[in-house]
Amino acid sequence: MSNPQEARKEQPSTYFVQDRENQSEFDRLRVQDQMVTSKMGGVLPEQSDPEKLRRVLDVGCGTGGWLLEVAKEYPTIETLIGVDISAKMLAYARAQSEEQGVSERVEFHVMDALRMLEFPTGYFSLVNARFSISYLRTWDWPKFVSELARVTWAGSVIRLTECGWWRGNGEALNKLADLALQAFFNAGHVFVKGDDTSLMEHLPELLSRQEVHDIQTRDYELVFPAGTPESEGYREDLRYGFRVALPFLRKWVGVPQDYEQLYQQMLEETARQDFVGRWRLRTVWGMAPTHRKAQHVV
Ligand SMILES: C[S@@+](CC[C@H](N)C(=O)[O-])C[C@H]1O[C@@H](n2cnc3c(N)ncnc32)[C@H](O)[C@@H]1O
Repeated sequence: MSNPQEARKEQPSTYFVQDRENQSEFDRLRVQDQMVTSKMGGVLPEQSDPEKLRRVLDVGCGTGGWLLEVAKEYPTIETLIGVDISAKMLAYARAQSEEQGVSERVEFHVMDALRMLEFPTGYFSLVNARFSISYLRTWDWPKFVSELARVTWAGSVIRLTECGWWRGNGEALNKLADLALQAFFNAGHVFVKGDDTSLMEHLPELLSRQEVHDIQTRDYELVFPAGTPESEGYREDLRYGFRVALPFLRKWVGVPQDYEQLYQQMLEETARQDFVGRWRLRTVWGMAPTHRKAQHVV
C-alpha cells in the first residue's frame, strides 16, 4: 500500500484476484502487458492520428505499462492518466513513470471504475480500457460505458480491448481454461455459458447502447509458438494466472481434486518444443456522443 489516504479509497472489488497486494498477480500483469502490446503491434495500432490527442485516460491500468508506452511514443499528448483500484499497481506505475522520464505528463490515481470516474464531463480525447472482463460483470457494462462516454469529449475515442480464453495444443491447458471460463460465467463476467467470445461479440452493442457512434472493430488471433520471447510471456501468464485464480475458481466453480496435477501437466505442455498457444483479442472503438453539459474543450 503506498499511503493511508489511498488505502482508504480502496473498496472490496469484483476483480478475479481479491488480494490487491498479491505479488504474483502484479508479476503476471507486468508480463502480460508487454506481451500483449507487442503482439498487437503497439499501443494504438488502429488509431489514425494519435498525435492529435491531448488527454488520455486508461481505466484499470494495472502496472501502467500501456499508458507509459503511449506517453513515450506520443510526446505531443499533454496529459495521460491511469486509474486502478489497486494502490500497489499504481505505486509501481508511478515509479516507472519517473524512471522512464515521463512523470511530468503522467498521473496515476486509485479509483473504483464501478462507481464513477472522478473527472469532468468531456475531459479526455481518448479513453482506453483493456481486459475489463476481469472485474466487470455483464450487468456492470452499461454504467461503465456510460461513464467512459461521459468523460470523453464528444466525437473523441472510446477504445475497448477484450479477450477470449487461452487455448493451445495441450489437453491440461484446455481443461483449465474451460474451468476458468465456467467460473467467470458463474461469477457473471461472461455473457453466454461456455462461449469465451461472448463479451467480444457484445462490445459493439454495449457501446452503441450508450450512443457511441462510428463503431469499428479489429480482431487479433495471437499465436505463440514455442521458443519465441512472447511464448515465454504466454507461459508465465498461465503459470501465475492459474495460481492467483485459485480462490476465485474455488468460490465460483469448485476445484477438481486433480487440479495440482493438471496445473503441473499444463506447465509441461506449455514448455514443449511443439507447443503453440493461441489467444483471441478484439479492439472495438467509437466516438463519444454529444454531452448535454460539456464543461471542457479538448
Ligand atoms: C486484467 S488487469 C488489466 C490491466 C491493464 N489494463 C492491462 O491491460 O495490462 C485488470 C486491472 O483492473 C484493476 N481493477 C479491478 N477492479 C477494478 C475497479 N473496480 N476499478 C478500477 N480498476 C479495477 C485491477 O487491479 C487490474 O490492475
